[in-house]
Amino acid sequence: MAMPAHKDAFGTPQSLLILGGTSEIALATARRLITRRARTVWLAGRPSPELERAAGHLRALGADTRTVAFDALDPEGHESALGKVFAEGDIDLVLLAFGVLGDQATDERDPVAAARVAQTNYTGAVSAGLVCAGALQAQGHGSLVVLSSASGERARRSDFIYGSSKAGLDAFAQGLGDALYGTGVHVMVVRPASVRTRQVAAREEGPLATTPEAVATAIELGLRRRSEVVWVPGALRLVMSAVRHVPRALFRRLSL
Ligand SMILES: NC(=O)c1ccc[n+]([C@@H]2O[C@H](COP(=O)([O-])OP(=O)(O)OC[C@H]3O[C@@H](n4cnc5c(N)ncnc54)[C@H](OP(=O)(O)O)[C@@H]3O)[C@@H](O)[C@H]2O)c1
Repeated sequence: MAMPAHKDAFGTPQSLLILGGTSEIALATARRLITRRARTVWLAGRPSPELERAAGHLRALGADTRTVAFDALDPEGHESALGKVFAEGDIDLVLLAFGVLGDQATDERDPVAAARVAQTNYTGAVSAGLVCAGALQAQGHGSLVVLSSASGERARRSDFIYGSSKAGLDAFAQGLGDALYGTGVHVMVVRPASVRTRQVAAREEGPLATTPEAVATAIELGLRRRSEVVWVPGALRLVMSAVRHVPRALFRRLSL
């Protein structure tokens, strides 16, 4: 059965496809958009009770929610897994939210584990992003929102494996946005500071730490404005433009 889909008069998406269906940030965004009349949600992710539980919560909020098996580490499967979703009806918003933090210290000693972080966050996103971009372009409308990170802005000693994967993802998403400019498809890069989720639960919190709900609010506003880049919190943009220019010799001595 085809799922109906169209944006309302304010450009609020009514049909969502979330890649990384158990992501706390993505689910906060889905909850917010459901209160703004999103009607259908696809949660794409590795099959698990948690994925089904997440779908159940969104259903309880009134959204027709389905799950679809999707593994970022299986790029050969992306076309068929995601193609199935688009074949069911138009999608107004794709939220690319999967990602792993890894463990910097362990991963430096385990190159295969380090490569898995890069494959999930970067190459998995290249493949899934291109599949979704093609499908959105075929529809002639829709937004692709990509969860990048402030960590991608400048490599830090403490998390350069994760940070470099996000730098690659961020550059890819910006280029894709330029490639799709004028087609009716909008790409928005979201760069949060540390967000209080299970992904960073073991880490020390930075001064600009934020919440999944704040990221969701920023995404909703960015969609309305058709922004290309969104920082969360907004003050992070200025902070990071200063950080970008700190001389390297000094930067490596800072315990960031
Ligand atoms: N939390 C932060 O501080 C923060 C800051 C900036 C940016 N971000 C980025 O925002 C995004 C969402 O983060 P979050 O905090 O909401 O994290 P989260 O709750 O840990 O969610 C991560 C998601 O990635 C999925 N995932 C991991 N490996 C996958 C794979 N191979 N295939 C498919 N899905 C996979 C997980 O699925 P499973 O349930 O199968 O594990 C989960 O749905 C991530 O890209 C993260 O890097 C987070």
